[in-house]
This record gives sequence, C-alpha cells and structure tokens, in this order.
Amino acid sequence: MEKKKISIIGSTGSIGTQALEVIEKLQDKFEILALAGGSNTGLLKKQAEKFKPAYICHNSSSNEDFSGCKILRGSQGLEEICSNKENDIILVACSGKIGLKPTLTAIKNGINIALANKETLVMAGDIVMSEAKKYGVKILPVDSEHSAIHQCIKDIKYVDKLIITASGGPFLHKSIEDIKKATVEEALHHPRWNMGKKITVDSATLMNKGLEIIEAHHLFGFDYKDIDVVIHPQSIVHSAVEYKDGSVIAQLGLPSMHIPIQYAITYPERLEGIKSKSFSFAEIARLDFEKPDFEKFPCVKLAYHAGQTGGTATTCLNAANEEAVFAFLDGKIKLYDIYTIVEKMMSSHNVISNPDIDEIFSVDEEIRIKTKELITK
Ligand SMILES: NC(=O)c1ccc[n+]([C@@H]2O[C@H](COP(=O)([O-])OP(=O)(O)OC[C@H]3O[C@@H](n4cnc5c(N)ncnc54)[C@H](OP(=O)(O)O)[C@@H]3O)[C@@H](O)[C@H]2O)c1
Repeated sequence: MEKKKISIIGSTGSIGTQALEVIEKLQDKFEILALAGGSNTGLLKKQAEKFKPAYICHNSSSNEDFSGCKILRGSQGLEEICSNKENDIILVACSGKIGLKPTLTAIKNGINIALANKETLVMAGDIVMSEAKKYGVKILPVDSEHSAIHQCIKDIKYVDKLIITASGGPFLHKSIEDIKKATVEEALHHPRWNMGKKITVDSATLMNKGLEIIEAHHLFGFDYKDIDVVIHPQSIVHSAVEYKDGSVIAQLGLPSMHIPIQYAITYPERLEGIKSKSFSFAEIARLDFEKPDFEKFPCVKLAYHAGQTGGTATTCLNAANEEAVFAFLDGKIKLYDIYTIVEKMMSSHNVISNPDIDEIFSVDEEIRIKTKELITK
C-alpha cells in the first residue's frame, strides 16, 4: 500500500514532537512531505536529518542547511506547504492564531486536516467548517476531548448532549485568593499534561475548556446549551456523549496525546503504533467527577457567552486571551487579570455577525492592539 504523505505545521512543539514519535512507529504507513516550525531550528535540523522531508519551513533568519531539504520561510512557506496537493493530510499543531491561514489554504486544496490548533475554530469556526464541507475535506480532531467525542458518536442524530471533561488544572482546589497570587511557574505546573506554554496557562484559567466548548460546537454542530463541562481530575475519561435514551458512551484511556494524534492521522483505521499500557479498571480504582466552579474560573462563562453571541465575539475572545496570556508569561500582569482583560475587551467589542475572513483578521488585529494598550496603561 502507498504511504500517506503528511506535513506537520509546528513539528518542534509538544504535539508536533509526539506526532513524530507516532510516525516513527508507523514508518511503513507515512512519508513526511514537510516539517514546519517557528524558531527552534536546532530541533528542526535534527528532525530533518531523521525524517528526510522534502521541505522544511521556519521563521528564523538562520541560513543553516537542512540535509538537502528545500527551505521555505515564514507564512509564505506555510502557504506553499499547505497548497501542495501531494499531501494526503496536514497536522496543524502550531499554537495560536498562526494556525488559521494554513488550515484554510489546505482546505481549499482539498487536503484533509488533523487539527490540534484549537484557536483556528475559535477564531473562524463557521468559515472553516463551511469551507471544509464545500471542498469535501475532513477535519479530524486531535484534542483528546474532541477525539473522544468523535470516537463516541456512532450516529450523530441520536446524540443529545456532549460532555467535555476537564482535569481542572493546577488550581482546581485552590482559593480565588491563591489563584490571584499565582506565579508563572505555578501556572505552568500542570498536574496531568505536559504541553506548550500557551495551552498550559489556558488550562490554569480554564479558558482552555472554554476554547474547547467553542471547538466542539463547530466540529460537531451542537448548540452551546447541549455542551456540558465536568471536572474529572484523573483525566481517564477523555469526554462522553449522551444519547436520546439517556445512555452515555465515554472514551477512556490513560492520559497520553500519542493516542488521539495517532487516531486522527490514521483515521478511519485504528493502528497499534504507539500503544498505551493495557487499561486496568482495578488499578485505576476510582474516577472522580465534580461540577466546575464558574465563579473561581469565570473564563469558561466568557467562552460560553462569546460562543452564544457568535460572529466575531469568539475572534475577540481568542485575540484578547492570547495577548493576555503572553503578557502574563512576560510577568506584566497577574493570572486573574487574564479574565478581567478578556471580559473588558469583549464588552467593548462591536460584534460583526457572519463576518468574512478579512473581517476576522481585521478584528483579530484590532483586538490585539487594544489589548496591548490596555495592558500597558
Ligand atoms: N500540547 C498538547 O497536549 C495539546 C493538546 C490539545 C491541543 N493542543 C493544541 O495544539 C496546539 C499546539 O500546542 P503545543 O502544546 O504543541 O504548543 P507548543 O509546544 O508551544 O508548540 C507550538 C509549535 O508551533 C511552532 N510555531 C511557532 N510559530 C510558528 C510559525 N510562525 N510557523 C510555524 N510554526 C510555528 C513552534 O515552533 P518553535 O518551537 O520552533 O518556535 C512549535 O513547533 C495549540 O493550539 C494547543 O491548544 C495541544
């Protein structure tokens, strides 16, 4: 059988490096066409030596040689990779707003997407999903929660509700006062998952769950009132769906991003590749669930509100949040300020309903400028 040609946008990150571990195990199934990273050219060089892609793309001014690969740069390089119809699938695993343009380009070229970058659907979910429908492209979720839901839905017309689980992050049982005093180091210390910095901070404020609610709305077409969140600190139940007759089907597994990445890129097959340790209910012994505390973690409420408002409200939420997270990581604001900043930006934003893609990018830029101004005031 011919190997599937795959490109990875963000190959040097947490998802990207784990995807390469999966591909290494499935060498007879995949050929890497292109690897793209940001500034970590050292790691990109090692990846190029090992996987020998035809193209490398980076964002640095370095003039290094990459084992004879054709070198592309910046957003133009990403466009070239995502227009290459030799790709069978592209894994979009960069963080933040950078993911949107390459995803849309790949869709227009009829290339299936394994989507890790959640900001893409939060910024422009309506446009991305309608373009995917128009070009007959599959958007395969990589996020463990959406991968779980994808696996639990057999026939969507019988599903009433999506139930997204959340580990609760490092501050689950801390007081609001402790959360307000939280340091960058504490926020980056996630109890279950080892991820990039942006998503780790989002997990500490629970904005990550908010972004996932919006992502789930677009991926599966459910109304926000039918998407619930439940805290599940062990991260064993990755999410669930409730059927019309009240039956609940959940997907369980030991916490590992290898499995959802592997499922997305090999779908509809389910290959051994990287296999997690055999599952033992007896060893796990107990699974805990609790209601999320939206007073302590108000970012989830903001995301529900943005999603229900629609239009550019979620673009605004995403841009303000991303800039506020960068400012927190730079030590310019406190963790809880992320919420107050996003809330302020959202309440002053004039929402555009049914925006086109240019309006999305212009709102994104405007909100980023305003958020930075608010932070430096
Ligand atoms: N990590 C997880 O477990 C997880 C789980 C679910 C969903 N996600 C989502 O997946 C996405 C990636 O998360 P992550 O944790 O893997 O982030 P990460 O570790 O910060 O990795 C981000 C990647 O994007 C690359 N990048 C930065 N600027 C770029 C540019 N201009 N062009 C191309 N690539 C660029 C980085 O390259 P350099 O490092 O070379 O600069 C790096 O490879 C996020 O949207 C996140 O929400 C992650």
